[in-house]
Amino acid sequence: MSKKNPSWGGRFTKKPSQIAQNFSSSVDVDQALYNQDIQGSIAYAEALMEAKVLSKNECNKIKTGLKKIKKKIEAGNFNWNPALEDVHMNIEAALEKEIGVTAKKLHTGRSRNDQVVTDFKLFLLERSIEIESLLRNLMKNLVVRAEGELETLMPGFTHLQNAQPVSLAHYLLSWYEMMKRDLERVSATKKELKVSPLGSGALSGNRFKLDRQKLAKSLGFDSVTRNSIDAVSDRDFALEVAFNISVMAIHFSRICEELIIWSSSQFNYAQLPEELCTGSSIMPQKKNPDMAELVRGGSAKTVGNLMTLLSLMKNQPLAYNRDNQEDKAPLINSIEYATEALSIMIEIIKGVSFNNDQMLADVYDDFLTATDLAEYLVIKGVPFREAHEITGTAVKYAEDNDLLLFEMSLDEFKKISKKISQDVFNYIDPSDSIQAKTSIGGTALQQIKKEIKRAKDYLKK
Ligand code: ARG
Repeated sequence: MSKKNPSWGGRFTKKPSQIAQNFSSSVDVDQALYNQDIQGSIAYAEALMEAKVLSKNECNKIKTGLKKIKKKIEAGNFNWNPALEDVHMNIEAALEKEIGVTAKKLHTGRSRNDQVVTDFKLFLLERSIEIESLLRNLMKNLVVRAEGELETLMPGFTHLQNAQPVSLAHYLLSWYEMMKRDLERVSATKKELKVSPLGSGALSGNRFKLDRQKLAKSLGFDSVTRNSIDAVSDRDFALEVAFNISVMAIHFSRICEELIIWSSSQFNYAQLPEELCTGSSIMPQKKNPDMAELVRGGSAKTVGNLMTLLSLMKNQPLAYNRDNQEDKAPLINSIEYATEALSIMIEIIKGVSFNNDQMLADVYDDFLTATDLAEYLVIKGVPFREAHEITGTAVKYAEDNDLLLFEMSLDEFKKISKKISQDVFNYIDPSDSIQAKTSIGGTALQQIKKEIKRAKDYLKK
């Protein structure tokens, strides 16, 4: 840069050193906000015109100039200059080149401090809407897959050990519930994003009698911030977006972890679509679940980004500090992960095939209905702790005799407890166990059908 900075150079005799320029320039990252910056400036110019700061002619000139700049950027014909620090000053300088001195009036009463929060909120709002729609798509696919697996029995796990029988539909709907919470978090944060800081100035407000409410509405905000100091220093909305994405990413990571385990030859429960797997350069037989692994691995950076943002805000005095410039890269990185990972997750859920036979075999090859036997005894009047003990004896007996619970004869059961009679066999078959859990949220088929209906209704909204 040969000259002093055009935006703030007046009181300076020297320009920033080269190293300072390099260190402080953010345009490589924040040019992502170009569209919101232009949108914000167009709306701001209109507000200035209504406040009689700009004439209609000047306002139109500014608007036309900004639209031209937008076209240039989108055509790849815009020369981003790192010496102009950020997206805001790049666009302002380009506007001056485009329309001359009138451009110098646009920043009246505005500061980059309220400008950057405005741009960032609008940007995050747009991305949140994109994430919401991808999440809904994923949820829809989970419901479709669940509907196809209503009768598929599989072991449910605790501690990754066989625990109790469930259906694959129930399992898939558990993933749906996780996604639903993710969706609701994203939607809730949108409320916070829809509060406009524009008109807060550097930190103390705006003297030019702008109609802030009208300005906010014209940009798609619902309301305006109520304290100018807070407005320019608040980044809670960014923290929330980062948090929402990390929780979602952790959900993806857990789901992918399960699918990776399930697709191992030891488990043999699932096969990931070939288009989402890779081979090995040395082992010709390999089909590796790389996309699922990258979704799992990539979730780590979203957690790191959240930590970066939390640490960024800690100890910042009010109001604006340049530290805040560091908020964009981590959040944009998390958003990029979120949209890409969501698209991969949709492909995974659509394309994964399940090995129902193996799941079924496993359900019938263990003591998954031991709890059902204990509960049967409770129904016959045995206190639960005692029933637990008796069932333990039955399991031990079966194990010693190479039997499964439902393979034991009534006589064998009777030797363990006199309370057991023929009807025990309606309790210890895995499919009976599943059907017996009729409580809301349980495994019974009727219950799951209700949840599928509920999910479909939810997704219609
Ligand atoms: N590039 C800056 C940011 O992202 C814009 C605000 C600069 N404000 C200032 N007072 N230097 O936060």
